[in-house]
Amino acid sequence: MDVERRDKLYEGKAKIVYATERRDAVIQYFKDDATAFNALKKGTIVGKGVVNNRMSATLFERLAKARVPTHYLGTLSDREMLCRRLDIIKIETIVRNVVAGSLAKRTGLEEGTPIRQPIVELYYKSDALGDPMINDDHVRMLRLGTPAELAWMKRMALRINGVLRPHLRRRGLLLVDCKLEFGRAGRKLYLGDEISPDTCRLWDAGTGEKLDKDRFRRDLGGVEEAYQEVYRRVVLGERRA
Ligand code: TMP
Ligand code: ASP
Repeated sequence: MDVERRDKLYEGKAKIVYATERRDAVIQYFKDDATAFNALKKGTIVGKGVVNNRMSATLFERLAKARVPTHYLGTLSDREMLCRRLDIIKIETIVRNVVAGSLAKRTGLEEGTPIRQPIVELYYKSDALGDPMINDDHVRMLRLGTPAELAWMKRMALRINGVLRPHLRRRGLLLVDCKLEFGRAGRKLYLGDEISPDTCRLWDAGTGEKLDKDRFRRDLGGVEEAYQEVYRRVVLGERRA
């Protein structure tokens, strides 16, 4: 794929977005920078950009087969993905299969408690506010999306979870939870952003070992090794557990 990288459009905590000569396409460049707790904690995870780029590409391709529209157009290099240009909806949609993180805090349930029926949560994507949890009424009040868009996003989040969960399980990974972002292009909605150990919790299906960004957030050590293990299983398709 031959696409020219033009001006930087936006630099986030983990990615840079560049314009291209195509008005309908951008390049996502994946960095090794890692932050947590709304950037209070900063660090580097060597090789993370490559893992997140390649893993996202693999999973976007899998989702496309399941009729999930994604922004993925192709892989340009180890750290660069060509994507459909989206107007990102300022909602983080989280799907959960197992209690962890903020859900454990909010409910008092122990981390690792299975959730019988996957749940969907909405957060307002705002660094200034620290991404607070919101509900459908807040979405309407803030005009973040129409009721039809929100219904589509929730339905799609469950479908994505329904595809990724067994796919990852066959690679020895338990999909605990996952953060998704959607955006508009023309009259259609697409899944955007990335699907990686930065945005999902992934536990070894056999041992329960954490193989995601929680190793960085919680200073558990073995951060780079965990990302490489996920890469081996998801991108290279090596099986374990
Ligand atoms: P939480 O339990 O902290 O709410 O996180 C739920 C999921 O969302 C987890 O897979 C990690 C992901 N996540 C992000 O992608 N970005 C964030 O800023 C946070 C807090 C969580
Ligand atoms: N990326 C987020 C931040 O810097 C947090 C996280 O993933 O935990 O706030």
